Amino acid sequence: MKSPYCYLDNAATSFPKPANVAREMRRCMDYYCGNAGRGSHKLSLLAANKIYECREEICGLINAPAPENIVFVPSCSYGLNLIIKGILKQGDHVLISDMEHNSVFRPISQLANDGKISFDTFSALKNPIKNDEEILKSIEKKLRNNTRLLICTHQSNICSFSLPIDKIGELCKKNNVLFALDVAQSIGHYPVDMQKSNINYISAPGHKGLYGAQGSAFVAINSKNLLDPLIEGGNGIYSLESKMPDFLPERHEVGTLPLPSIVGLLEGIRAVKLRTIEEISNHERQLFAYLRDELMNIDGVSVYMSECEGNTLSFNMKNISAERVAEFFDKENICVRAGFHCSALGHRSLGTDESGTVRVSFGIFNSKKDIDKVILVLNSKLAK
Ligand code: ALA
Repeated sequence: MKSPYCYLDNAATSFPKPANVAREMRRCMDYYCGNAGRGSHKLSLLAANKIYECREEICGLINAPAPENIVFVPSCSYGLNLIIKGILKQGDHVLISDMEHNSVFRPISQLANDGKISFDTFSALKNPIKNDEEILKSIEKKLRNNTRLLICTHQSNICSFSLPIDKIGELCKKNNVLFALDVAQSIGHYPVDMQKSNINYISAPGHKGLYGAQGSAFVAINSKNLLDPLIEGGNGIYSLESKMPDFLPERHEVGTLPLPSIVGLLEGIRAVKLRTIEEISNHERQLFAYLRDELMNIDGVSVYMSECEGNTLSFNMKNISAERVAEFFDKENICVRAGFHCSALGHRSLGTDESGTVRVSFGIFNSKKDIDKVILVLNSKLAK
């Protein structure tokens, strides 16, 4: 079915999805939707096999140490909470960047407000744009003897600025600091190699750049240290014991896993691999450059971090609020996100903490025609 929408909100969730994603979810609901790990009958085993297949596919995608080190969680934010609260102990110090989403900033701030940890923010996004060496220096300056964790996003969710994760991973390894990465906006758009980049923990959504359904997300673990569980409960393993198992992935998987979402994710990842991440990234960069250049021809438009080409572009128009621009777009069935994008730190660093931005974000199904629609509305309805 052809969508009537010009969908440009892929940073919030990708839409539409590759046909095989919904097809496999439907097949699962019709033919094999048993509960993995809760019985030894055929449907339970089929479910468990499918889940393992998905762990293997993810493991290959990000070069995690083993399929067992992939833990399914309900959302990327949940995964970040699991990592943060599973690692940090009383008195620990943490480093985060100045472009974090609230899914990192809020749990870290809460632990600090509770008096459990302290944290510092290193400069990355703050205008003027920093080069890699300046970012590394900013991290080094804030390291302390008790710094246990550096947790940051790979790419901002407001614009396409990304952090030099290989160099940050190396720095963390050298200083014996754990490195955790939020790949909410980069997975499926850029290659991520956990072992090569010395990343100890990753949290990823399945429903954005991997084209799965909402409710699919995972944490990947590249460390021998056990995380404390975030929640406890049943999972079909060691049912007579009171404690959570001390092995992966069952230590952190509690309650019934969302099999339809997981098989959807499996097909989403396969679609991404088929197209290749390099091709997806080039496609999105071309769309970014085309939109940026068109926007810059319109009087009163500012594009943020316009030199960072990627899947996400934020702009504002003089004398008209971001929300109002989005209302005009919505009347024409153009879907974008406008206002504040759940990133207090990112908006402060960009200087958009009063205005917010209009955010346009691309996926594999967008084309130049979508951008022409955006420009037509801006020129015909909004530009002076
Ligand atoms: N974090 C998502 C966004 O940036 C929902 O829109």
